[in-house]
Amino acid sequence: MLLLTLAVLQGAYAYPWVSRAAGVDSSILQRGSIAARDSADCPFNANHEPAAPVTADFPYNNAKDGKPGNGKGGYLVPAPGDTAHEFRMPDPKTDIRGPCPGLNTAANHGFLARDGIVTYNELDGDIVGTSKLSIGCDASSRTALTGNLLAEELGLNGHNHFEADTSLTRNDYFLADGDNYRWNATLFTHMMDYCQGNCDLQALAKCREARYYESRAENGNFFFGPGSLLLYGAASFLYELFPTAGGTADEVTMMSFFGANKTSDGQYVWNGGERIPPNWRARVDPYTNFKVGREIFAMYLLHPVAFGGNIGQNNFLGMNFSTYIQNGQLNLNTPYDAMCLLYQTLTGPFPAELGNVINLPVAVENAITAKILRMAQNFGCPINPNSGDGVSGTQTPQ
Ligand code: HEM
Ligand SMILES: *[C@@H]1O[C@H](CO)[C@@H](O)[C@H](O)[C@H]1NC(C)=O
Ligand SMILES: *[C@@H]1O[C@H](CO)[C@@H](O)[C@H](O)[C@H]1NC(C)=O
Ligand SMILES: *[C@@H]1O[C@H](CO)[C@@H](O)[C@H](O)[C@H]1NC(C)=O
Repeated sequence: MLLLTLAVLQGAYAYPWVSRAAGVDSSILQRGSIAARDSADCPFNANHEPAAPVTADFPYNNAKDGKPGNGKGGYLVPAPGDTAHEFRMPDPKTDIRGPCPGLNTAANHGFLARDGIVTYNELDGDIVGTSKLSIGCDASSRTALTGNLLAEELGLNGHNHFEADTSLTRNDYFLADGDNYRWNATLFTHMMDYCQGNCDLQALAKCREARYYESRAENGNFFFGPGSLLLYGAASFLYELFPTAGGTADEVTMMSFFGANKTSDGQYVWNGGERIPPNWRARVDPYTNFKVGREIFAMYLLHPVAFGGNIGQNNFLGMNFSTYIQNGQLNLNTPYDAMCLLYQTLTGPFPAELGNVINLPVAVENAITAKILRMAQNFGCPINPNSGDGVSGTQTPQ
């Protein structure tokens, strides 16, 4: 169904840069068969072991069996003595790592399967699932369910699904022969220059703005759509989730979660694995989706940038999206518009955009959109036809 949607919409939303970016996606369309095919050089582990379960000895927040925990933080992670969740350096031959430092860290500590082939249960207890996902490269041979027509599961490296241009510490897909997921020393150093010892909202807003203009100037296939707003959410994780409870987003914390060491002459170097800093405690109150949404717009609005893409080098064209974006400019009449825009980006029928966050099996997709749908209804947003729950509506992005 997703493939069909992609094929149909390809024509309907003929943004030139989308069909270019979809150069990636049209190759997917052409795959036709479901013969699972891993990307070249994708690490392979023949003996997949699921994440070490949370036990009565080390209950953390009691999140287990795919159910959310009690929402209380403040405890030490990993718990003293919990060797199942100690840091272990990933093995590049067997362990997949990807663009997300948070998930890489979780895998290096065995909160996700150490080989990087994770289940939706491990990622989010609320989501149905025996389905698997690679946190990096395409590992369809190990993630796809037999007979699943959506078997081309790109993994989180898949460009313009969640991964997108202008990341803080990762290259743009088209600027680096497809290496859009490894830690880049130059970019990390730039970010730390902006942070000056504290990667807070203001510092990261400036850094994201700089990354935007860098990409826009250098990348002839640059694309920054409404879904790219999620990158502001990811950036907020630096100061909301990485610091120890009550702490700040200081250099030591950033280095640890991004897998960086510093040499005696002050250069950052990759140390091989993202890691939870010593004596780290989980934040006390949950960082809810609602708070993330608020942080996304707080950061974006400090240094707003135009939505759209390049059609070749230095040839930017602003995009139009529903009532929210006109000629590249964000047009929010009410705070509710912001939430509705996020809803649209997560459920809207885009081709190579974030409409399908990652190529998800239908059941998982429906579970996610059904949740988001409830939020959208609370905010009185126009509802998308493909919102799950069989709810249909008339609003489509233009
Ligand atoms: C189900 C949960 C999650 C998924 C599917 C996910 C996925 C991703 C993906 C695909 C990216 C790359 C976006 C891009 O820059 O192009 C990313 C970035 C990021 N994620 Fe996650 N993530 C998750 C949870 C987390 C958590 C819990 C944390 C923090 C503890 C985190 C921290 C970050 C940060 C800081 C970035 C930005 C990295 C950069 O721009 O260089 N993520 N995430
Ligand atoms: C890191 O990023 C810089 C700046 O964008 C780029 O010039 C360089 O090629 C990147 N390095 C790697 C190894 O991708
Ligand atoms: C990084 O620092 C740690 C702790 O100081 C050290 O054990 C490790 O060998 C270093 N790794 C690299 C690649 O410099
Ligand atoms: C967006 O709308 C403006 C004005 O209506 C138009 O000039 C522009 O070409 C549109 N952009 C795209 C990518 O269609």
